[in-house]
Amino acid sequence: MAVTKGKFVTVEGGEGAGKSSNLAFIRDLLEQSGLEVVFTREPGGTALGEDIRDLLLGHKHTGMARDTELMLMFAARAEHLARIILPALNAGKWVLCDRFTDASYAYQGGGRGIDMSRIQALEEWVQQGLKPDLTLLLDLPIETGLDRAGQRSEPDRFEVEQHAFFERVRSTYLEIANRDNQRVHIIDAAVPLVQVQEQIRAIMNQFIQAELHG
Ligand code: TMP
Repeated sequence: MAVTKGKFVTVEGGEGAGKSSNLAFIRDLLEQSGLEVVFTREPGGTALGEDIRDLLLGHKHTGMARDTELMLMFAARAEHLARIILPALNAGKWVLCDRFTDASYAYQGGGRGIDMSRIQALEEWVQQGLKPDLTLLLDLPIETGLDRAGQRSEPDRFEVEQHAFFERVRSTYLEIANRDNQRVHIIDAAVPLVQVQEQIRAIMNQFIQAELHG
């Protein structure tokens, strides 16, 4: 499963970090380089995965047990890998994904307090060695992000969490980035959008050049 041809790029970040506009920017950069890009998201990305997303983000199951939440994330991921991500990579396409397994470590591990070794066990089972080739972490202070997210829409089942939850999510993301600093690049997302995009452009251009001409 680990032998693939296309490249797998993921984008992570806390609430209100500007993921949507920056994902569109990254997609444009990839397509301008002549790459065929499959653009997708987690939880979701397949019909079944989007139904699981509704269960996870909606308010119908407010008191969901944290292990149920974790396993639903990985159930959606198994479907996503089998139907979308692996076929695309094997066909030589690039996959750009809005969140992936780093989010399970950050939210279910850091946020909910599930032991990281249990998440790792699911990761190994479901992914069998497959990891993103490049991850951009849009990082910004919790208050700034929640203010931005709060202005947009009704909060989902994660967005109603307390400040301390999001602090744990952020610090787990930063720990992952520091540990796996070849793959994960921290983007300062607190600055104006043009400056965020300058940081992204520099990293993406370097990565694309290395992959295409390296
Ligand atoms: P978003 O992608 O629209 O920001 O919303 C997805 C939410 O799901 C977000 O609050 C993070 C959360 N999430 C997890 O808790 N674990 C995961 O593994 C993934 C992919 C997302």
